[in-house]
Amino acid sequence: MNIREAIEKRFSVRAFTEKVPKIETIKEILKTAGTAPSGGNIQPWKVYVLSEKAKKGLSDKTLYNFDNGVQEEIEYDIYPKPLADEYKKRRYECGADMYRALSIEKDDLDSRFNQIRENYNFFGAPLGMIITIDRSFGKNGWGHVGMFLENLWLSAIDQGLAMCLQESWSIYPKTVKEFIKHPDNEIVWCGIAIGYEDSSKPINQYRTRRENLDSFVSFIE
Ligand SMILES: Cc1cc2nc3c(=O)[nH]c(=O)nc-3n(C[C@H](O)[C@H](O)[C@H](O)COP(=O)(O)O)c2cc1C
Repeated sequence: MNIREAIEKRFSVRAFTEKVPKIETIKEILKTAGTAPSGGNIQPWKVYVLSEKAKKGLSDKTLYNFDNGVQEEIEYDIYPKPLADEYKKRRYECGADMYRALSIEKDDLDSRFNQIRENYNFFGAPLGMIITIDRSFGKNGWGHVGMFLENLWLSAIDQGLAMCLQESWSIYPKTVKEFIKHPDNEIVWCGIAIGYEDSSKPINQYRTRRENLDSFVSFIE
C-alpha cells in the first residue's frame, strides 16, 4: 500500500470484530508512529496501551458514570466556545450523516444516547489506548502529538488494523487517571479504539465529507 492509498483508506472505524491484535503488532505501529516529527525533537506523546482486561475495567467504570449522569471537571474544551458558524455547520453535518447511516431519527434520543455511550465501550474494539501529554505544553506541543497520532493511524492501516480517535475520554479525566494512574503532570488528550474493522456494520459504511481546496487554501502572489 502506498502512502496516498493509506491516507485515502483511513476513516474512523466504530465497530470491530472480536479478533485481538497481537501485542507485537501494536508495538510495531507505535514504534513507526514514534518516528513522527516534533519541534526540537521533544517527542511529547505518552501512550497507555490497555489490554482486553484493562480496557474492560476502564469501560465498566466509565459506563457506570455515563449511565448515572456522573460528571467530572473537564480539563480542556473539545470545541471552542462559541464554535463559529463555519465549523458548527460541519459538525452538524457530520453527526446528521452518521445518524442517517444508522437509520436513527432526529427525535430518537435513546438511540442517539446509545451511540454516544458506545464511545466508552471503545466501540467494541478489543484493545484501547489513552493518549496524554505533559500539561505544561501549549498548542504547539499538542500539534506534535497530532503528528504522532496520524502516523499511528496510517501504520495501523498498513497492518490491516482499524482505529477511532476518541476525545470523548477527556470528559472523564478523573476516572481515567484513577485507572491508568498517569502522573499528575499529564493531561488526558484522547483515547483510541483499535482492532479489526467489522465491515458488516452500517456505521462503518458511513464516510464524512470534505471541503473544497478553495475553502481553506489561499494562494498569495
Ligand atoms: C482528536 C480526535 C478526536 C476524536 N474524537 C472522537 C470521539 O470521541 N468519538 C467519535 O466517535 N469520533 C471521534 N473522532 C473522529 C472524528 O469525528 C472523525 O475523524 C471526523 O468526523 C472525520 O471522519 P473520518 O475520520 O471518518 O474521516 C475524533 C477525531 C479526532 C482527530
